[in-house]
Amino acid sequence: MKKCSLDMVVSANIPLGSNHFLLKFTHKEQLPEMLPGQFVQVRVDNAPGVFLRRPISVNFVDQQKNELWLLVQKVGEGTRKMSEYKTGDVVNMLLPLGNSFTMPQSAQSRLLLVGGGVGIAPLLYMGSLLKQQGCNPMFLLGARSADGLMQIDDFKQFGEVFITTEDGSAGEKGFVTQHSKLQEHIDKIYTCGPTPMMQAVARFAQNNDIECEASLENKMACGFGACLCCVTQTQSGHKCVCSEGPVFNTKELSWQI
Ligand SMILES: Cc1cc2nc3c(=O)[nH]c(=O)nc-3n(C[C@H](O)[C@H](O)[C@H](O)COP(=O)(O)OP(=O)(O)OC[C@H]3O[C@@H](n4cnc5c(N)ncnc54)[C@H](O)[C@@H]3O)c2cc1C
Ligand code: FES
Repeated sequence: MKKCSLDMVVSANIPLGSNHFLLKFTHKEQLPEMLPGQFVQVRVDNAPGVFLRRPISVNFVDQQKNELWLLVQKVGEGTRKMSEYKTGDVVNMLLPLGNSFTMPQSAQSRLLLVGGGVGIAPLLYMGSLLKQQGCNPMFLLGARSADGLMQIDDFKQFGEVFITTEDGSAGEKGFVTQHSKLQEHIDKIYTCGPTPMMQAVARFAQNNDIECEASLENKMACGFGACLCCVTQTQSGHKCVCSEGPVFNTKELSWQI
């Protein structure tokens, strides 16, 4: 898939709680095809300490409005600078990067998309495309507390939503892997979030003989396979998360689970 360097124009910057924001970008020409699980590398200008582009997942592509959405958590200088973007600002991005989640063989498959924190980001786009293909995905979204839950109404457009919070302020109390929905039959799980959460999900999938794909968020530099700073150990040696991932079948990963 051809990678482009595009000057995207900010069409909205919507704060979601104190620590997250949703950026919407548009472009004068038709956006290139982007697959669910792929990411973009954002060049953060006018931030002296930010030398490298910042990898951010494709959160949603609104075909009608020719809009790309990025859901971002403020963690350091780069993402803080991004939180200051205003409508009309021009931001350079490399896109689309990485591989993608695998579509199911059958629309009848019972699919569970499990996300934690800002790791829910790629699951919205994946859910939208599954729905377009006639599937009925289920979303299991976890956060520390109710105020960490985001885009719930957007997810509800594409499937049933189940929630866990660690403090019990919304949905079932506990971790995503403790949700009662996991007692039901599931054919395949797609997950993204903090590594310990994804490893717990992968362990559940392994113990129950369920196919599972996880989207990793290793630290990155170039974002396209040139610097080897993002490698992860797999059953077939080291692999670049940026170019051979970020999505891996969890059976392929050398996780101690
Ligand atoms: C493929 C991919 C997709 C991603 N998608 C999203 C997304 O959709 N939304 C989003 O908000 N973030 C996403 N991230 C994480 C995001 O890239 C980092 O949070 C961001 O680069 C931090 O930049 P910064 O300058 O704000 O912070 P920095 O000053 O670079 O770092 C601040 C803190 O964040 C930690 N950090 C930096 N990069 C990462 C990382 N990759 N994973 C975990 N911790 C990190 C650092 O160790 C440090 O403690 C993704 C990362 C990858 C690799
Ligand atoms: S970030 Fe450079 S090889 Fe992956």
